[in-house]
Amino acid sequence: MEKVNSIIDNLPMQTYKGTSVLDAARSVGINIPTLCHLADLTPEGSCRVCVVEVEGVRGLVTACTYPVSEGMIVHTNSAAIREARKSVVELMLANHPQECLSCQRNLDCELQALASTLGVREIKYGGERRQFAIDDSNPFIIRDNNKCILCGRCVRVCKEVQCCNTLDWTERGFNTKVTPAFDEDMVNTSSCVFCGTCVSACPVGALTEKAMNGVGRPDKKVKTTCPFCGAGCNYDLN
Ligand code: FES
Repeated sequence: MEKVNSIIDNLPMQTYKGTSVLDAARSVGINIPTLCHLADLTPEGSCRVCVVEVEGVRGLVTACTYPVSEGMIVHTNSAAIREARKSVVELMLANHPQECLSCQRNLDCELQALASTLGVREIKYGGERRQFAIDDSNPFIIRDNNKCILCGRCVRVCKEVQCCNTLDWTERGFNTKVTPAFDEDMVNTSSCVFCGTCVSACPVGALTEKAMNGVGRPDKKVKTTCPFCGAGCNYDLN
């Protein structure tokens, strides 16, 4: 496979052609923040948190989707980049419930951690917020689309890892949300196998397990071969 030479933050490196700027940077210990990216899933480039500068390219590009090429010079942490990332997070928070203290993911939330790292101290933008009903049609999982940042990680793990194709995008624009495709009957006809992989993939508090609310499946350790799933599918090799 062809290799290419590039420079990321003054660090010369050689990587395989087609490697993303994100993977190339991470391979030498340069941290670029991400929200919609998950290793081994198709990169989506939807959150815009991983933006970087490539010399000779107008504007910022998303490191998770942009491939390194021969002679490329990349900057990942300039003042302009940090400001752009901060604006992205501020816009997400403008349409996000301000209830971190009562959220199950408090102190374990990627959006919260990123806001802190980027120095977001206030909700800068006002305006209308989404008002979705909480979906508890799944016997084990609660979906709060008001907290969803539309990263698509749950949709992609459901399709690409579990091959269930239960989750997908519905509606458009401001009303875009993730729901079970075709509003399935979650108990009787859904393709959902209740594996919990989507909950594990969610970076915020949009998907949580009912067991954590004191109802539904009790927390119990089981043997599993699944590398992602925090819930366990009861598949026992022995
Ligand atoms: Fe690259 Fe979301 S992590 S756009």
